[in-house]
Amino acid sequence: MSKIESAAAKQSAAASNRTVTLSVDGKNISFPVYDATEGQSVFDISKLYAETGMFTFDPGFMSTASCESKITFIDGDQGILRYRGYDIAPLAEKSDYLEVAHLLLYGELPNAEEKKSFNRTITMHTMVHEQLHFLFRGFPRASHPMAVMAGAAASLAAFYHDSLDVNDPAQREISAYRLIAKMPTLAAMSYKYSIGQPFIYPQNDLGFSENFLHMMFSTPCEKYTVNPVLARAMDKILILHADHEQNASTSTVRLAGSSGANPFACMSAGIASLWGPAHGGANEAVINMLREIGDVSKIPDFIQKVKDKTSGIKLMGFGHRVYKNYDPRATVLRETCKEVLAELGQINEPLLKIAVELEKIALNDPYFVERKLYPNVDFYSGIIYRAMGIPSKMFTVLFAVARTAGWIAQWKEMMEDPKAKIGRPRQLFTGSAPRQFVPLDKRK
Ligand code: ACO
Repeated sequence: MSKIESAAAKQSAAASNRTVTLSVDGKNISFPVYDATEGQSVFDISKLYAETGMFTFDPGFMSTASCESKITFIDGDQGILRYRGYDIAPLAEKSDYLEVAHLLLYGELPNAEEKKSFNRTITMHTMVHEQLHFLFRGFPRASHPMAVMAGAAASLAAFYHDSLDVNDPAQREISAYRLIAKMPTLAAMSYKYSIGQPFIYPQNDLGFSENFLHMMFSTPCEKYTVNPVLARAMDKILILHADHEQNASTSTVRLAGSSGANPFACMSAGIASLWGPAHGGANEAVINMLREIGDVSKIPDFIQKVKDKTSGIKLMGFGHRVYKNYDPRATVLRETCKEVLAELGQINEPLLKIAVELEKIALNDPYFVERKLYPNVDFYSGIIYRAMGIPSKMFTVLFAVARTAGWIAQWKEMMEDPKAKIGRPRQLFTGSAPRQFVPLDKRK
């Protein structure tokens, strides 16, 4: 049994002695309650259709747990995020991205020997097949790098036939390594391609985040030394974005994988879902918004527009489906943001001033207070990326690089769950009742 399997095979949900009883057309039906280690219990309605002939209706999964998971816990009201029981803040401060990837995959932080072996394995998989260069060259240089990433991630399935059997734990494991290792390489290639510079090969004596910055910013013409403050900030950002339980992109990865699709295709599905502005695209939208505001004096007008529901304008980087408190990732990044800007001598950067003022005003405005709208992680990550010289089109790509560890850990957990089934939601059909086909010459 692989290490991944043994960690995931530990106990699964047991019914508590509570039940929930629903009365449907005068008939009482009881459903078992499963208690969570922390957070909300659930009641199991999988037999509801058989018992009543009815489905539940829950657009946006507002009250639906789509799976059982042991990976990440969020308490949105308290502003808590934990990976495998560890609070996010100490992980971001004291750990590193590959340790966190190990934690997400195997359930435990690595000991010294495991860390050395895991780091070595990931490092040995960072290079991509040379043929992939031609795939990149097929894209227009002005392509959005998320379009390139979705294609490049899916294309890995065409190169690595030896790890496509999703029923083989060893192949699942090697796919996990390949994805964690190669996503930064693909991300840096998508950037280099967009600016017409040569692709930079990974350098195995560098750490994960250092190597990523090296592939992004070095050129064959001169020596590039990675700034350790920036490498550490990048590593923190990757840790903070590594997993977030059943968010839209992770649920997309699970749903795609539930049909037995290979993990590279599933990652591509996750990238597509992450691209949306309500999810991973928000950090790019934050910078666009700050640019649009342009000056601290324009903030009150902008806030008025945000509060006017007819304007369709939202305060990007604020609000979260789950966090109804300060996003714990934003707390860490707020400080990292200051460190990076100080290191780069950009502490008086106008966009930061607008961001700080915007945050101050929004946190005291009854509109935001009553709706529990706090800054989320994207509010700061974009400012940090921008200071590092990363263009806004790349922001969501960096999110995808970070989230790869979470996506693949969640996918593997699902694949190892003997109760997992193909995901097949049902619907409330409100379309036309049956009608007769009308030939073209008789249609009005
Ligand atoms: N600006 C202004 N008003 C907002 C915002 C915002 N950013 N977010 C929510 N609201 C308002 C809604 O209009 C609604 O008001 P109402 O009660 O008067 O109708 C109320 O707050 C509740 O909002 P919902 O849309 O129901 O909240 P939901 O949980 O569905 O949405 C979401 C969460 C999509 C993140 C939303 O807050 C948003 O669009 N934020 C901006 C985009 C953003 O920053 N996304 C990043 C999310 S974090 C991540 O993916 C890593």
